[in-house]
Amino acid sequence: MANVTTTAAGKGGFRVWLNKRLPVDEFMQSQLVGYYAPKNFNVWYFFGSLALLVFVMQIFTGIFLTMHFKPGELTAFDSVEYIMREVEWGWLIRYMHSTGASMFFIVVYLHMYRALLYGSYKAPRELLWLVGMCIYLALMAEAFFGYVLPWGNMSYWGAQVIVNLFGTIPAIGPGLVEWIRGDYGIADATLGRFFALHVIALPFALALLIVLHLVALRQNGSNNPDGIEIKANLGADGKPIDGIPFHPYYTLKDLVGVGLFLIAFAIIVFFVPTFGGLFIEAPNFEPANALSTPAHIAPVWYFTPFYAILRAVPDQQLGALLMGLSVVVFLFLPWLDRSPVKSTRYRGWIWKLALSVFTISFLALMVLGLLPAEGTYVTLARIFTALYFGFFLLMPFYTRIDPVKPVPVRVTYHA
Ligand code: HEM
Repeated sequence: MANVTTTAAGKGGFRVWLNKRLPVDEFMQSQLVGYYAPKNFNVWYFFGSLALLVFVMQIFTGIFLTMHFKPGELTAFDSVEYIMREVEWGWLIRYMHSTGASMFFIVVYLHMYRALLYGSYKAPRELLWLVGMCIYLALMAEAFFGYVLPWGNMSYWGAQVIVNLFGTIPAIGPGLVEWIRGDYGIADATLGRFFALHVIALPFALALLIVLHLVALRQNGSNNPDGIEIKANLGADGKPIDGIPFHPYYTLKDLVGVGLFLIAFAIIVFFVPTFGGLFIEAPNFEPANALSTPAHIAPVWYFTPFYAILRAVPDQQLGALLMGLSVVVFLFLPWLDRSPVKSTRYRGWIWKLALSVFTISFLALMVLGLLPAEGTYVTLARIFTALYFGFFLLMPFYTRIDPVKPVPVRVTYHA
């Protein structure tokens, strides 16, 4: 006790004072320095920390936008223009937020794809994957509500299309649509509730889910590009022999990812903020107009794979069902995949072929969703929709007969 008091007066005093009241050092030691992560992480492992960074950036820029944004049919569009032209640095905050939305999806899609490459959703990480999927669903809702807020013409018509999809649900559909809108059309009441959900409810839900995601990650530790459980191989000190302390090794490595990401982010924000109409579509620079439908109503690029599936089916009810299924089917991956091997590195040609076909189908549907649903585009969308679902539905069969290779005992690591 006497020792602490003497030190408190001298060097490092604040640290001692603080740690007696808040276990900062203990937390760092147990969660970062004492946490051993596989030593073979590659660039695919940048995207978790980047997703965290984008989340924080979106909250930060969102707070400043909310200070000047005025939800309301008559005020929303003008208040965004006011932010762009009159508020000091308002244009930067707005473009950081709109670019951040697209970057969030780029990062999250790559993060999910890594899980496909290395089988990270397989046991014992099924729950980590399910929580990740809940994050993804919440993120989709968050992005949709946010897109409606500026009350541009695409916001309005996009909301019209998406909300009307709920009308295809048998029996309760029409009533449900009215309940969601709070009016007989997309109106002031709709904008008000979407604003509340966008700035309060979903950010809270996301923050909570992210914490759960990280807790579930720590429970079994990270997977790695070899798909080997490093905890099965402990050294004399009780630490995994294929592991290294998360801090300082991965905190520093993640900083490289952050640097590269911020360079790309800044280039987009400063030079191509609308990204050729992909990040902010041209009709959204015009105010919402119930009497003028944009020539091609298309959602932002990150929703277009699912939108292409919706439009590929002639029957609207079946189309909406398939669109919903194309998203939720990812939830079942841990149980559809029957391979004894996690990483694509040690899987056979059947899995590699299936994954390649899925990747091409997803990207093709993304492009087709941006194009008008006419002629050859519809035929192509139907083919890629069939291949997309084939990847999931046939998985229990082809993963069982896939000629896998032996998995090494230790991770492969090249300095
Ligand atoms: C806000 C969004 C998200 C954040 C902040 C986040 C954060 C993280 C972090 C920090 C890690 C550890 C580092 C890494 O492996 O890259 C991680 C791992 C993981 N995440 Fe996420 N994540 C998010 C969304 C998702 C989504 C949408 C999914 C899947 C649907 C997902 C599935 C996984 C899986 C399977 C792992 C373990 C990967 C492995 O160990 O190989 N995450 N996440």
